[in-house]
Amino acid sequence: MPSITSLLDQAATACAKARKGIALTGAGISVESGIPPFRGKGGLWEKIDPMKYAHIDALERDPAEVWKVLFLGIGELLGTAAPNDGHKELRRLEELGVLQTIITQNVDGLHQKAGSRDVIEFHGTHAVLRCMTCQRRYEWQEITITEIPPRCPCNGYLRPDVVMFGELIDMSLLQRSQMLASQCDLMFVVGTSATVEPAAYLPVIAKRAGAFIIEINPEPTPLTHHISDVTLLGPAGEVLTQLTERVARLRPMPQG
Ligand code: APR
Repeated sequence: MPSITSLLDQAATACAKARKGIALTGAGISVESGIPPFRGKGGLWEKIDPMKYAHIDALERDPAEVWKVLFLGIGELLGTAAPNDGHKELRRLEELGVLQTIITQNVDGLHQKAGSRDVIEFHGTHAVLRCMTCQRRYEWQEITITEIPPRCPCNGYLRPDVVMFGELIDMSLLQRSQMLASQCDLMFVVGTSATVEPAAYLPVIAKRAGAFIIEINPEPTPLTHHISDVTLLGPAGEVLTQLTERVARLRPMPQG
C-alpha cells in the first residue's frame, strides 16, 4: 500500500495541474466544528430514526414533533458552529486557483462562513425558514418563535429550507451540479459516506468524464476502490492542511 506521503504528493500534483476543480462535501467536513455526522459512530441517525423524523411525510403528518425532535436541536448545534481547518483549506484551494465551486450536502453554511465564494447548497440551508403554505422565505432572525412550529403571517407552518427524505433536489441546482461534475478535471470528495443519491452519483459522473478524484475521509466509502484515484484516509482538517501546503509549493498564489 502506498504511504500517506506518496498519496499526498500524487494528490498535490493533480491539484497543481487542475484547471476546473470542484469539491463535493458532506457532514464529515463539519465534524471538527463540533457537528456530528448522520451515519456511523455518534451519528445523528443512531439516535433519531430518519424515516420517522427526517422524511417529508413525517413533517406533513406532525410538524410539531419534527420541530421538537430534529429542527430545534440542529438549529442549536449550527448556531454556534464555526468553520474548521477543512473549510478554511478548501477556501485556500480556491484562492490558489484549484477549486472553483463547492457542492455541499451540508445545511450549516460553514463553507460560506470560511469565505468560499461559489457554494451550491445541494440539500438546502438551515439558515432560512420557508412557509409550507405560501413558500415565503425568512431568515431565522426575522422570526420570533412563540409557538412550535412557528407560523408565517399567512398562518402556514414554517420549516427550515432543507431537503428532507422523500423530497426532490432543486432542479436548477441539480442540473448545475451535474454539469459541473461532467466538465471538471478534478473532484474532491470530502467527508461524505457517498450513500445518498443523487449527490453520491456526482463523483461517478466526474470520473466518467475523465476527472481525477481525491477522496478525504477517515473511513473507506463505496467510492474508495472504484471511483477515487487517491484516497487520503484521515480527518478533513488535518489532511487538507497537509495537502494545501504541498499544493501551495507547486502552485503559488495567482498574482493580481
Ligand atoms: N473528516 C472527514 N470525514 C469525516 C470526519 C472528518 N473529521 N469524520 C467523519 N467523517 C466521514 C465519515 O466517515 C462518513 O463517511 O464523514 C462521512 C459522513 O457521512 P454521513 O453522515 O452519511 O454524511 P453525508 O454523506 O453528508 O450524508 C448525506 O444524508 O441524511 C442525509 O441529508 C443528509 O446531507 C445528508 C446526506
